[in-house]
Amino acid sequence: MPMGKEELMRKLEEKIRNCRKCPLGQLRTNAVPGSGSYDAKVMFVGEAPGYWEDQKGLPFVGRAGKVLDELLEGIGLSRDDVYITNIVKCRPPENRDPTEEEIRACSPYLDMQIDIIRPKVIVPLGRHSMGYLLRKFGFEPEPISKIHGKVFRANTLFGRIIIMPMYHPAAALYKPPLREELRKDFEKLRKILNEL
Ligand code: URA
Repeated sequence: MPMGKEELMRKLEEKIRNCRKCPLGQLRTNAVPGSGSYDAKVMFVGEAPGYWEDQKGLPFVGRAGKVLDELLEGIGLSRDDVYITNIVKCRPPENRDPTEEEIRACSPYLDMQIDIIRPKVIVPLGRHSMGYLLRKFGFEPEPISKIHGKVFRANTLFGRIIIMPMYHPAAALYKPPLREELRKDFEKLRKILNEL
């Protein structure tokens, strides 16, 4: 009998927890595979774990995570309704940006998560996951200030998918007006999800 989603995801998460494909695997406390529903219609993809995520092995549990929780709550969703992950699953030292090599080593895990969960909407949070995901689905990345909240439609082997890049929630901590931009983009997301 073929493996179900649950089993495939559990196996994949285990593989990520034990991964040593790049040097970040030696430096981390915990790898952070992702969390939420394996049947989620929407998947959020951040950049990489920070200090608290590395400590707890869970995505978006620090200050940026609080912003994300509030945005989700604002459109009537909780973490159990969505799947949250990152493009790089281990914390880069001092929270520096992930390198191209790290993204290359780690992104096959994200590809597998997408293939198993089969979300209808993917929300890249911030420029690193935006760049990777737009290219993956055949689009040219542009500055996040220009394309946040824009809908990109693509065909996949499992059906049509929407990619809707947004600012990274941490950006709203440093530039408070971006919180309003995020709120508006989440409102658009709510409408899209209601129409699915
Ligand atoms: N920032 C991210 O991009 N991901 C996390 O999990 C936490 C902070």
